[in-house]
Amino acid sequence: MKVCDVVIIFITLFYLKECTKDVFQNLDEKYHLVSEAYSITKKLFVQGRDNYNTLKNRSLHVMDTFLDLVYIVNEEMAKELRSAIVKFYKIKYFHDFTNYVVNIEETVDIIEHCLKEPLEKVDQIRAQFHDVIKNFQDSRNFDVVNRCYNELPDEVAVTHCLLHQAVLFNETMQANLIAIVEIKTRQHAQDMNATLFGVRKCLNDFVPNFFEQVLVDAYTNSCGFLKVVNASVSDLIQDRWRKFHETKFPKKWSPLVSLLKEK
Ligand SMILES: *[C@@H]1O[C@H](CO)[C@@H](O)[C@H](O)[C@H]1NC(C)=O
Ligand SMILES: *[C@@H]1O[C@H](CO)[C@@H](O)[C@H](O)[C@H]1NC(C)=O
Ligand SMILES: *[C@@H]1O[C@H](CO)[C@@H](O)[C@H](O)[C@H]1NC(C)=O
Ligand SMILES: *[C@@H]1O[C@H](CO)[C@@H](O)[C@H](O)[C@H]1NC(C)=O
Repeated sequence: MKVCDVVIIFITLFYLKECTKDVFQNLDEKYHLVSEAYSITKKLFVQGRDNYNTLKNRSLHVMDTFLDLVYIVNEEMAKELRSAIVKFYKIKYFHDFTNYVVNIEETVDIIEHCLKEPLEKVDQIRAQFHDVIKNFQDSRNFDVVNRCYNELPDEVAVTHCLLHQAVLFNETMQANLIAIVEIKTRQHAQDMNATLFGVRKCLNDFVPNFFEQVLVDAYTNSCGFLKVVNASVSDLIQDRWRKFHETKFPKKWSPLVSLLKEK
């Protein structure tokens, strides 16, 4: 690269920097109110963006934690179910091994069919929820405050203009996102819950009295694992996102999920 190219790049960068600088930064120091209002406006704008991003992060983290819990619990129940089936056939067809193999293969197919749904649902819900949350972008534009410059030299008018923008920055976006997070969290949690509870119906539809015959409680109301998911769904549905301290899901369930993941 030649020296003159480097110089041109530097000049370009310097020029770009000057252009994007806020007009208010070069304002005469005598405009005290204006500089005060400007810094309030800037602060609210930045704060709004931080709060927004934090809320997005938190909702994604909560949903991921919930789905991780469902995944782990579902794996445990599936394991229980599979081993119960093997045990069942071993006892039933102890003396007739050929018959045992034919029948167990059929039953295993049915079980695998019914167990596919919850696994697919976990992935589907995770992807959907991430899409919804990521689609929310901070649509405010700080450059609108530069329009207030037109009110100069009337200091009070400029200040008023800036504070008006400050209030708008403060109000607009978070309420929308909170509403969406609450609705979508509830919908997805209920959808996941219904799918997990649906495994029982699926098996009973293929094999009447499946659970009574096989003597297994996985996926039934008396199954401790299913109760855990059910309780976490209850908490998730009741969480209110407007106030930080009213979301109990993360505090209550995150430690358990971390523990389970380690194991
Ligand atoms: C959101 O989470 C990511 C990764 O977990 C982190 O890098 C980022 O700083 C977080 N953002 C906010 C605003 O909390
Ligand atoms: C910004 O919003 C918060 C919460 O809604 C409110 O308490 C605060 O007074 C607002 N600030 C301004 C400058 O409007
Ligand atoms: C699931 O939760 C609901 C609401 O909290 C409760 O009424 C129901 O008994 C629970 N079911 C199971 C199987 O834990
Ligand atoms: C989960 O789904 C089952 C079956 O539809 C239902 O009985 C239970 O109340 C649901 N749990 C919650 C917390 O809504």
